[in-house]
This record gives sequence, structure tokens and C-alpha cells, in this order.
Amino acid sequence: MSKIRVSLLGSTGVVGQKMVRILEDHPYIELVKVSASEKNKGKKYGDAVKWVENSKIPEKIVDMELVSTAPSDHKDVDFVLSALPSEVAEGIETRLVSSGINVISNASPLRMKSDIPLINPEINYEHLYMLEDKEVKYVKNPNCTTTIMSMPLFDIINLDYERIYLTTMQAVSGAGFSGLPYMAINNNIIPYINGEEEKIPAEISKIFGYRSNDRIINRNIKMSVTTLRVPVAVDHAGVMYINMKNFDLDNFVRNVNRFKPLSKFNGLTMAPERPIVLHEKNDEPQVHDVSGMEIHIGRLSYNDNILRMYILGDNLIRGAAGITVLTLELMHAMKLDN
Ligand SMILES: NC(=O)c1ccc[n+]([C@@H]2O[C@H](COP(=O)([O-])OP(=O)(O)OC[C@H]3O[C@@H](n4cnc5c(N)ncnc54)[C@H](OP(=O)(O)O)[C@@H]3O)[C@@H](O)[C@H]2O)c1
Repeated sequence: MSKIRVSLLGSTGVVGQKMVRILEDHPYIELVKVSASEKNKGKKYGDAVKWVENSKIPEKIVDMELVSTAPSDHKDVDFVLSALPSEVAEGIETRLVSSGINVISNASPLRMKSDIPLINPEINYEHLYMLEDKEVKYVKNPNCTTTIMSMPLFDIINLDYERIYLTTMQAVSGAGFSGLPYMAINNNIIPYINGEEEKIPAEISKIFGYRSNDRIINRNIKMSVTTLRVPVAVDHAGVMYINMKNFDLDNFVRNVNRFKPLSKFNGLTMAPERPIVLHEKNDEPQVHDVSGMEIHIGRLSYNDNILRMYILGDNLIRGAAGITVLTLELMHAMKLDN
């Protein structure tokens, strides 16, 4: 079988580097091109990148020459994976798509457009079928916090709840390489992340939305969100309260343990065996135990008609690089990759 050839935009950023590492030994996806900003075009990847992964830069990539984002540089790949900053992503990605190039993107512009699927694979992989008749495939990943916090709602969203209240504690890496100066976050908590409190409920309403041919109709979501930046390198945490009557906590736990919607597909190297891992000890899960594609839940309780849970996930793998690769693997398994 010939491999799926991909190029990577934003390859020198924190998400891009994670993607380089994930794709290093991938059995059927091959990273054949890397791109960064104009200032680094033509340089070798190893000379331009400030590598922060705790492994060596893959040998095949270290001497690869960085190319531009122009469609002419990506004509010969099957998919472009984009880890571009939001400020520049829309123009670059739409130029690629109009030139007939498939794109899977981490950047926020156009996430809410009804004819572009916004995919958190275990929750709504079926939305990908809206691309069946499209010659060029353009797919968005949700915001990293949305990806993590939407997972445990897979069941609850269909219940008669009153309102979901979420407070997040988000890692510094969520802001990218140049996001936050050390002096601003060291020994500090910043009580606001620009744009995040609107994005999370909006994106959740689309992820749990209904497909009508080639469009998504958003679901009505009742949710209030507060987002905080905390001095943690990787992993986003959240405390969620949901008020609802007659909630069956034991049944929820059973459903979480049975939740394996992607197990019907073969060859998904990025799909975790158990997408949601439940912790019973009061002091679990903790940041140093959590890395990868699983979402972790702890502090589960239901008292006075209020469900409470603590949610923790890896913003760089689950929230970005990992689901980009999982989405491409799924599209391959669903025969949507050509
Ligand atoms: N960090 C997270 O946890 C996370 C999670 C989910 C989604 N996202 C989204 O993923 C995207 C990438 O985030 P990040 O955290 O990896 O950002 P980052 O660390 O700031 O990296 C940005 C990358 O884009 C390149 N770039 C910058 N300006 C460019 C331009 N005008 N043209 C072409 N390339 C350009 C940079 O190349 P140079 O090295 O040459 O400057 C670098 O490779 C963003 O849209 C972000 O919102 C991030």
C-alpha cells in the first residue's frame, strides 16, 4: 500500500513539533514536506526550529528544507496538515483548498462554518461523511480546550440538564511559542484568555450538532465558561458542574467504561483503547500522569442535583497534533482520503 503523503504548515511551532514526532514512525502516513514562516523558508528544519520535544529531531526531517505555504509547494501531497497561527491561517488554507489541496487544520478561523466539519473524532466522526461528495476535503480540529472538555459530555448532552458551568485551568503551551513571557505567568494565574470563553460553548454546540446533508446544524447548548491561564507547561484542566435532576451516576460510569466508538475501525494508531479514563482516588488525575490521547476524569460526585467532575487532558496531543493525525487515519479508514 502506498503511504499517505502529507506536508506540515507551522512545523516549527509547539503543535508542529509534536506532529513531527508523532509522524516519525507512522506506518502509513509519511511527512514529506515541512513549512514555516517566510523568515525560515529555505533553511534546514534543524537550523530553524527551537526543538522542545524530549527526543531527537527525526533524522529524516532534520535536514529537510522548509518550504513556503503557497499551493505550488504542496501540489504533490495528499493532505496538508496545518498548525498555522490563527491570524494567517484563513487566507493560506483557503488558497490551498481552492487549488484542490486537502487540508486538516488546527487553526480557529472557519471552525464554525456549517459546511466545514469540526471533528473531535470519538464524538462526531460521522460528521466526516458530509465530505463524501466533495472533491477537496477541508476539516477543522476544535480548540484544544473544547476537544478535552467536550469528551465527558458524550452522554450528558442528551439529558435534561439545566446548565453546564466550566472553569478551566490552561497550560502555557496552549498559547504557542511566543504566547506568554515567563515573567507574566511565573507564580501567577491569569484570569482571562482572550476569545476562549466564547469559543468553547460555540464549538461544543457544533461538535454535538446534527448533520443535514453537507451542513451541520448546531445544537442548543446551555453553558457558562471561565478560562484561566496557570503556570503549567502542558495539560489543560477543568472543573465542571452540571445541574440536573435524577442523574444516575452509576450508569454514567458504566457508559464511560463502555465508550469506545472508534473500535469498529482498523488501523487507527492514535485512537486510545479507552478514550476516557476514570480515576477514583481524590487526588487523581495529576498533570505528571497525563499525556497522550486519553481524557482523564476524577472527583466525580452527584449531590443536591449537581454533577461535579474534574477533567484533565494533554492540550498538545489530544488537543491538537494527535487528533489531526487521528482524523486523517479515520478519513483513510472511512475511505474519505481520495
Ligand atoms: N498550542 C496548543 O495547545 C494548541 C492547541 C490546539 C490548537 N492550536 C492552534 O494550532 C496553531 C499552532 O499553534 P502553536 O501553539 O503550535 O503556535 P506556535 O508555537 O506559535 O507556532 C506557529 C508556527 O507557525 C509558523 N508561522 C508563523 N507565522 C507564519 C506565517 N505568516 N506563515 C507561515 N507560517 C507561519 C511558525 O513558523 P516560524 O518558526 O518560522 O515562526 C511556527 O511554525 C494555532 O492556530 C493554535 O491556535 C494550538
